[in-house]
Formats: sequence, C-alpha cells, structure tokens
Amino acid sequence: MNDKPSDIIPPGATLAILGGGQLGSMLCEAAKRMGYRTLAVSAHEANPIARWADHHLVADPSDPATAARLAHQAQVITVEAESIDPDALQAAEAAGARVAPAARVQSIVRDRRLEKTFLAGLALPDGQRATGDFRIAENSQQMHRAAEELFAAGASRIVCKTARGGYDGKGQRWIHDPQHAGSVFESLGGVPLVLEAAVDFIAEASVIVARSADGRMTHFPVFANEHRRGILHQTVMPGEFSQATSAQAIGIARLVAEKLDVVGLIAVEQFVLPDGRVLVNELAARPHNSGHVTLRAAGRSQFEMHIAAICGLPLPPVEVLRPGVMTNLLGDLWAKGEPDFPAVLADGHASIHLYGKSPRPGRKMGHMIHTGATVEEARNAADKAFDRLGGQ
Ligand SMILES: Nc1ncnc2c1ncn2[C@@H]1O[C@H](COP(=O)(O)OP(=O)(O)OP(=O)(O)O)[C@@H](O)[C@H]1O
Ligand SMILES: [Mg+2]
Repeated sequence: MNDKPSDIIPPGATLAILGGGQLGSMLCEAAKRMGYRTLAVSAHEANPIARWADHHLVADPSDPATAARLAHQAQVITVEAESIDPDALQAAEAAGARVAPAARVQSIVRDRRLEKTFLAGLALPDGQRATGDFRIAENSQQMHRAAEELFAAGASRIVCKTARGGYDGKGQRWIHDPQHAGSVFESLGGVPLVLEAAVDFIAEASVIVARSADGRMTHFPVFANEHRRGILHQTVMPGEFSQATSAQAIGIARLVAEKLDVVGLIAVEQFVLPDGRVLVNELAARPHNSGHVTLRAAGRSQFEMHIAAICGLPLPPVEVLRPGVMTNLLGDLWAKGEPDFPAVLADGHASIHLYGKSPRPGRKMGHMIHTGATVEEARNAADKAFDRLGGQ
C-alpha cells in the first residue's frame, strides 16, 4: 500500500473505457465534469458511448493489441462490461498501463464458476456462508449429478446459468426435476454452467463499494432491488432493511472488495432471507444498474466515485440527498411508438435518462429517477409514472 501523490491521476489526464454501452456513456459524462478526457473503445460506430466520449475508437475492446496500445494513450484504463476479455486487460498491464479493475479481477467476475468459488471461500466473521448452495457442471453428465445433489440437499428448484456471457437473466433456465438436466444443458448451448439452488428470498439488495489502490474504501447505502422477469425493474435508495441486515450486507460487500483487492467499484448483489440474513448472488466490478439512482439521490454518483477510486483521488463522502427510486425503461415501452415522456415529466420530480439505443423488447433503453421527501413518496411517483408509460 502506498499513498504517494504520484499515484494520483490528476484531472486533465485521459481515461480509456473498454466497451460502448450506457455504463461507459455515463462514466464519460462524469469524467468530463471532473476534468478528465475520455477515450472509448467499442465495436460499433453507433454505440451509445460515441455521443459521450471525447474520442471513440471503433475496434474490438477485447483485442489485446488494441488494449496494449492504450497504455500510451491513456493514464488509466477501465471497463464497462464483464464481456471484456481479461486477456486484453492483461496485455494493457504488461504494456505498463494502470488498469482498474485488474485483469485478475475481471477474470473472476466474468466467469460464474470462479466468482461462486471465490464467494464460497470467503470466511465470514460468524462462520456463515456468503453464497447459496451451487455446483459447477462442464458437461451433461456433471449436470445430471449436480442437479441430483442439489435436489437431494433440499433445493425446491434449481437455476442453471451459463458460466459466461449472461446478463439481464439471459443464459438461464430453471429446472424442477433432475430428469430435465440433459435437455437444459443442450438448450443453453452445451457450455459450462453453474447450477444454483433457488434462494427463497424476501427481497433483493445491492451494495456498491468504491475502493482505491491503497485500500481506502467507501460504500453507498444498501439499495433494494425489484426484478421482473429476471431483469432489474426498480431500485430504491436507501433500501428499507433492518439495521442488522444492512450491516451484514455492507460488511460482506466490503469484505468482497478487500479480498478481491479491487480498485474502482464493486457491486455486490444480494438476497435477503426471511430471517434477515443475506446471501451474495453475484458481483460486478464496474458501475451497476442499481447505482444509477445515485445520479439524483446522492451527492456524488457511482460514476464519479468509480473515477475517483481508479484515479487515486480522495474518495468523496457518500451523501444521501433525498430518497430516490430508479426505474428501468425497457424496449417494451416503445411497442406503440415513443413513450409519453412529457406526461411523466409534468410533475417536475422525474428525470429521464435515455441511452440512445434502438428499442427491442427487454432491452434497457434508459431509466427514470424519482426523488421524494420519503421513500414512499418517491416510490409512489415512480410507480405512477411507470403506469403512465404503459409499463408492466
Ligand atoms: N439462486 C437463485 N435463487 C432465486 N432467484 C434467483 C437465483 N439466481 C438468480 N435469481 C433471480 O434472477 C435474477 C437475475 O439473476 P442474476 O443476477 O444471476 O442474472 P444476470 O443475468 O447476471 O442479471 P443482471 O445482469 O441483471 O444482474 C436475480 O436478481 C434474481 O431475481
Ligand atoms: Mg444480477
């Protein structure tokens, strides 16, 4: 650990972002406000980030040679997606670049097998497990055995997830009977899987921790997340959980950040059990969809926090300005043409953020944020607005 001034990447420097989606776009927006220049690498000219980055290099963001060249063009390199190949980050590191998250971290968070194994190995202070019961299956025989074992251990249902490449519930199938294991293995493409026993949660939560290279850490309050059809629908900040649940959720998230030795943000998705304990679902070493609520409800957003952490700036204090609710706007809302945003904006309490993508069902097109004097007020306004847009 060291905290030399030379470890600070000052405003005016260039930040490279691998990936071209909305998370990268919002990073660019924050970077610009903080005085940094941005160089984005993404595969298509029309990607959302093209509108936000100072420079947009149209290239494969997972290509090691491209990433290595960034070492001479940017003072720090970050990613906005799990899909970025850790080999690219490794190449940039080998070329002398400062990379956050490190290739080592990226290789864990982009593969559920490594991620679950890491979580299972975490020693919680009370000896409890950090994550639910799971098995790894590389072929259909292992899949059968894994399903049988999980059902024998008391699972009511099992969710089978592709080890890599899943997002928004994609690459997942539920099974209720080990007999169906073979067909599900094939239907998911015959690739390595992680099988998880269903967790009977009463709520979902996430904690976003920011950590700098010298080990300093801060965290946003626990968010409450509601998913619909496997996709995040709404995030409430602060989530209304008992003190014990919040303390445990934050404790686990900070432990994960420390043990992973992450630099930048780590978002820890969690299930809250009926007895108030939490189990980790999954990790993201980047800004997280649930953290968008911080754009309006916190003094500094998750994007500013990520940039501060990777640039070695002092981590700003976390301020909750007002309770806030973030609601995702999926492509389904565009089924009958442009949604009626003026109606939603009429009350003056909503902000709408659109990513500039073409609509498809289930695709995240943007989000809206409502704030209020209380969580209830913000949630009521958010729900009313979502109804107005014809959401379900
Ligand atoms: N073991 C489980 N038990 C119960 N529900 C689960 C389990 N695993 C996943 N889910 C449900 O499915 C949702 C999506 O799962 P997960 O977070 O693994 O997928 P994802 O595709 O990576 O999603 P995202 O990219 O949106 O975070 C969870 O938020 C939860 O609602
Ligand atoms: Mg998830």
